[in-house]
Amino acid sequence: MKMKQWMAAGAVMSLGMAATAWAASGIADIKGIAPGSKIEGKAALQDTPSGLHVTAALSNLPPGVHGFHIHENGNCGDNGKAAGGHYNPFGAPHGLVMKAGVHHAHAGDLGNITAGPDGKATVDATIPGITLSSGPYSVDGRAFIVHEKADDFSQPAGNAGGRIACGIIKLQ
Ligand code: CU
Ligand code: ZN
Repeated sequence: MKMKQWMAAGAVMSLGMAATAWAASGIADIKGIAPGSKIEGKAALQDTPSGLHVTAALSNLPPGVHGFHIHENGNCGDNGKAAGGHYNPFGAPHGLVMKAGVHHAHAGDLGNITAGPDGKATVDATIPGITLSSGPYSVDGRAFIVHEKADDFSQPAGNAGGRIACGIIKLQ
């Protein structure tokens, strides 16, 4: 009787843990870097069975195309330079990770966002092979960077120019 109860409790517990792993969600508060910049946005991150799902909505961007990446460090200091390079746990070249995968593009290579004349842009992308919070390739504590110019997918980092907005990824 005691044994049966213990096993039932164990089964419930492991189901609960699996649900928690997939339910992990995170946010990033994205803010303009330059003094007086009005750029702002929110990103939401979610672990799913097919990868890390990222959605974001940004406003007050200069209209046009801007590189958008997950960078290595959760630090927006030094005009965004403290965020370091693109998150690249597999030593891959620069690319578009949703198309090429984490072994052929930096895991943080989300490509570009396009702001309309109203300065608004949205993101909806899934990156297979990395996670928000579990396993060795987690983006918790890293940072989103929005660039001044478009990512042209050239090496080594897409030639997207300066960093105009930054947001640190945190578990919610
Ligand atoms: Cu970048
Ligand atoms: Zn890259």
